[in-house]
Amino acid sequence: MKRPKITVVGAGNVGETAAHWLASKELGDVVLVDVLEGIPQGKALDLLQSGPIEGFDVRVTGANDYGPTENSDIVVITAGLPRKPGMSRDDLLKTNAKIVTEVTEQVCKYSPQSILLVVSNPLDAMAYVAKQVSGFPRSRVIGMAGILDSARFRTFVAQAANVSVEDVHAFVYGGHGDTMVPMTRYCSISGVPLEKFLPANQITQIVDRTRNGGAEIVNLLKSGSAYYAPSAAVVQMVEAIVRDKKRILPCAVWLEGEYGISNLFIGVLAKLGHAGMEQVIELDLNPEERQLLSKSAEAVRSLVQVLGK
Ligand code: NAI
Ligand code: 2OP
Repeated sequence: MKRPKITVVGAGNVGETAAHWLASKELGDVVLVDVLEGIPQGKALDLLQSGPIEGFDVRVTGANDYGPTENSDIVVITAGLPRKPGMSRDDLLKTNAKIVTEVTEQVCKYSPQSILLVVSNPLDAMAYVAKQVSGFPRSRVIGMAGILDSARFRTFVAQAANVSVEDVHAFVYGGHGDTMVPMTRYCSISGVPLEKFLPANQITQIVDRTRNGGAEIVNLLKSGSAYYAPSAAVVQMVEAIVRDKKRILPCAVWLEGEYGISNLFIGVLAKLGHAGMEQVIELDLNPEERQLLSKSAEAVRSLVQVLGK
């Protein structure tokens, strides 16, 4: 059986860390692509040379062009700029939309059957760009954010309740931004509802901290944003697909009427398997949850409208 081929575009913090874990878990051969000359090649060679020590055996290569990525099964798009001082959210949106457009055009040319996992920010809008440019079906364009936001929520719950994070089950819906919707009603510790462990005010604090989870790390790092947890989230999605695990994970997916939302990427639970996004899971939301999700969808839609889409 052919070994999966996974391209990671953008050899920055998220891209290189994802490549590291993809290789060490032997999920497939990895091709790292970046516009910076020598950087993807150097990082790929260094990572490859850790194989004999760490005990993994996959091919890892780096490139500044897309020839070596030909016929990739999965392409992870992490190319893009982080927000810089003086740059508005709209400036970042337009700059990264241009980058994601160029990347997607190349990916379509060399790997027309690939599954795209979009990471670049603003996430839901960049997934929209990748879908419009590629024309791929919704099963093959998926945004990564929900697993990261949910991991943050689960971490904070485990800390507050003094339990193992392994026993905390939770997921976050909505766009990857201030309007995200941690679904506290569905959060449990080993199946027991969260409110049995934590008072309402503490749950509210955890929801707020989750919404600001990305900014909390940017403020600590001062330059750059989170990359360990984002990369781990990417790797979980890749693993679900290449191993056809049928995992139910929170991902940004193109909705076609589910939850009353259409033609937009938004974070919801979805099934990931060998075909990519195989099913949108539609939960019964209560009126408050529905209203919060719809507010989040409007925030994403307004970003997409700035792009003139
Ligand atoms: P970074 O700045 O470390 O790396 C970005 C890389 O993209 C750089 O190496 C740059 O040279 C490369 N790049 C720029 N234009 C390119 C092009 N046209 N083709 C190929 N490569 C290109 O940034 P980092 O930390 O790796 O983050 C990457 C993106 O992911 C950012 O937009 C960031 O906001 C986003 N992000 C999204 C998360 C999510 O939850 N969806 C979580 C973490 C980061
Ligand atoms: C995060 O949430 C920057 O989107 C990135 O950490």
